Amino acid sequence: MFQVLARDPSSQARRGRMELAHGTVETPIFMPVGTQGTVKTLHPDELEMLGAQIILGNTYHLWLRPGPETIKEFGGLHKFATWDRPMLTDSGGFQVWSLAKLRKITEEGVRFQNHLDGSKMMLTPELSMEIQAALGSDIAMLFDECPPYPCERIYAEKSLGLTTRWAKRCKHWIETNRPTSGTGIQRHFGIVQGSIWADLREKSARELVDLDFDGYAIGGVSVGEPEEEMMRAVEHSVPFLPEDKPRYAMGLGTPPQILEMIGRGVDMFDCVMPTRVARHGQAFTLDGPIHIKNLAYERDPRPLCESAHPHVARFSRAYIRHVFRAGEILALRLLSFHNLHFFLRLAANAREAISEGKFLEFKESFIRRYTQSKS
Ligand code: GUN
Repeated sequence: MFQVLARDPSSQARRGRMELAHGTVETPIFMPVGTQGTVKTLHPDELEMLGAQIILGNTYHLWLRPGPETIKEFGGLHKFATWDRPMLTDSGGFQVWSLAKLRKITEEGVRFQNHLDGSKMMLTPELSMEIQAALGSDIAMLFDECPPYPCERIYAEKSLGLTTRWAKRCKHWIETNRPTSGTGIQRHFGIVQGSIWADLREKSARELVDLDFDGYAIGGVSVGEPEEEMMRAVEHSVPFLPEDKPRYAMGLGTPPQILEMIGRGVDMFDCVMPTRVARHGQAFTLDGPIHIKNLAYERDPRPLCESAHPHVARFSRAYIRHVFRAGEILALRLLSFHNLHFFLRLAANAREAISEGKFLEFKESFIRRYTQSKS
């Protein structure tokens, strides 16, 4: 399902190809987030224009509304959302943790009151796999517990034990039910936890690898820890993951963080940042992020960025600032499109640099410009 096509000689970066039920994904890849089965503000045709190869959906949100039964009736999430390229779904535990109220974790699963109508619900490893099977995603994530940061070592240890036991229950459910995605098979990724402790990260990775999944994610990062801890969590996990399986860092990150992670051997990324900050008026540029509301852009005739897609490059910064300030929906659409283009292009440029054996040079010159000059 995954093939490494090229390796960078001066880092651990690799270029690869993943064959999934709904198509091929070239790695390293950035996956736009479509929590509710839609990448906020964008039409699927626009995602295709952007060259998005795979997008994300969330079990927790789609379970609560409209419900897996409705989505299944329409032939799965791809058909319901009219997206026929690959999709990955997160398992729901992380979202329960960040959104629901009165959460209680037990051996069985997570009890909580949902954030929509406050009703009491319970999500278990088996139910998460069942919902993801009904959604029919190409890649389903295992049900895990993401410990908070900071947390006591004893908490991280116990949580890790639970994540491994839940992974075994997910594995059992998968082997019994053999879920599909379109006309192909659904793939499953384990999630390495262990907070900031190197030995716990190693233990988690080894236990998951023993269970044999199609790919492995590094979870419990970008939960409020300093950037060095985030990098260390990845460095403590990657050496124990198989070379021939994809690696995914969940919920990351800024453009420099993504390049740093690629250099440490990570293949897949997802983050709400490009679309979320767009709604606050932020645009990514090669010289770092800019805030379009800034008075400096009032009469600026330049496009958002010299590398902007023609769909957005036709508009001046002055025009986008005007429509943003006037509260026009177009502004949110243009900024979301632009920011996703920036992240997808970053991944495409990284792939090209790896193929040419020049990833380190590319990473360093990108980060130098991104962090030093101001637009
Ligand atoms: N999204 C971001 N981090 C995590 C994590 O640790 N686990 C899961 N399931 N999803 C995430």
